[in-house]
Amino acid sequence: MTPWMRSCTTFAKLRCSLGALARVRWSSSVGPVLTADPTRALMDEQIRIRARHLPPLSPVTLWTQMYCEDGDLWQSYAHYNTNSDGSVNLCRDASVGGSYVGCEPMGLFWALQPAPGGREGLRLRKRDVQAPYVFNLSVSGGHVSPDDRGTQGSELASVSIERWYMAPGVKRMEIREHGLVGTLFIPPGPGPFPAVLDLWGMGGGLVEYRSALLASKGYASFSLAYFGHKNLPGPLDTVNVGNWYFKKAYQFLQNHDQICGDRIGVIGLSYGVYLTLRIATLPGVEPSCCICINGPVGSTISLPDAEARTEPFEFNQKHWTFDAKGQVMFKEVSRPDNILPENVVEMEKLSCPVLFIVGEDDTSAASTENADLLEETLKAADKGHLFTRLSYTGAGHLIEPPYAPNARVSLWRVKPKKLFTLWGGHVAPHAAAQEDTWRKMLEFMDTHLRGDRG
Ligand SMILES: *[C@@H]1O[C@H](CO)[C@@H](O)[C@H](O)[C@H]1NC(C)=O
Repeated sequence: MTPWMRSCTTFAKLRCSLGALARVRWSSSVGPVLTADPTRALMDEQIRIRARHLPPLSPVTLWTQMYCEDGDLWQSYAHYNTNSDGSVNLCRDASVGGSYVGCEPMGLFWALQPAPGGREGLRLRKRDVQAPYVFNLSVSGGHVSPDDRGTQGSELASVSIERWYMAPGVKRMEIREHGLVGTLFIPPGPGPFPAVLDLWGMGGGLVEYRSALLASKGYASFSLAYFGHKNLPGPLDTVNVGNWYFKKAYQFLQNHDQICGDRIGVIGLSYGVYLTLRIATLPGVEPSCCICINGPVGSTISLPDAEARTEPFEFNQKHWTFDAKGQVMFKEVSRPDNILPENVVEMEKLSCPVLFIVGEDDTSAASTENADLLEETLKAADKGHLFTRLSYTGAGHLIEPPYAPNARVSLWRVKPKKLFTLWGGHVAPHAAAQEDTWRKMLEFMDTHLRGDRG
């Protein structure tokens, strides 16, 4: 506590006891205050952060710290100068240094990094969507950095913020029926709701957070595991489910009594793009729209049996490339020339609008080239009107819901040898792309899953 704050507390006590005796008007200074509005928010909500009652025209540093579910410390910091009235407003003022620069109301969140000395190759991903992330924000005096923290600039004020993927009232249901492994999120209220089938990539497992957030926006959303999950048929390193499985998942949504059977979309990232397009061209499956984020239009893994199993993902490493640090890049694997023709989706059969999102710095998939191929194929089939592309310079492979920090590199596997993969993307443009794509995705879904059908 600074002497300034201590005297302030004494003042407060004095005012309180004297105030009871006589209605004296005190003009004392109050301590600094840091506020966040709201302090409980969804992950995609912008939070207004303000610090006030600071010395005017002075340097201050804003900090964010949080622990992820594995206990690793993440942090960000930014240097501001207070106004003549002693305030900083992150929606109005520019950071002049630190984890980001410029006027970035949500920079303290998307610029989070593992704290110095932490584990290498971390990627921030929420497993338990029924609990929030808790962020501790604070303001200290001077322009300081993590290296000199503790020796200078003690904390002047702080505030805690909860950010959630799952809104109050959203129902979460673990689905283990008809052979399906997934989690269904249903918005509050009776419905019926439009729905999305939500697919991730070759990281495998069951990833729920995007679905939880989509349900918080009024869509029933079904996260479907298809690979690398203990409840699926083994072995863990191959895809052992095929068309029947994805069709079952689609029909499961169609038959659900809180879902509009004719308003279902499919969304996928990475290998999930291939699956999204494949599902949309299966006989008897007619989604209302597809959203593809950074991925191929064909299977990058051999499909020895066209219906189902794949070879192990790591079986064919011919097109893996490595940067100077030995980090693997999977981009070449999905270059259209490197995908076997029989593994490419029959794109000309698509009959619904497709939104294709491209991070131009994607080092993990040849997303631009695959978007080009899809666009050309649809045009040649007289279906060019179905295709919309959003393309972002400086954005990498892992385009996630907004304000999540980008993992440019992350740990891919530990055995037989530790291997890191380069996903690409630069902090600020990647964050801007996430914000823009999310807004446009929701608009696209609103049009094609909720819109009037004359
Ligand atoms: C945030 O503040 C709470 C309450 O003071 C504390 O329990 C928690 O450890 C803090 N988190 C970090 C990352 O410092």
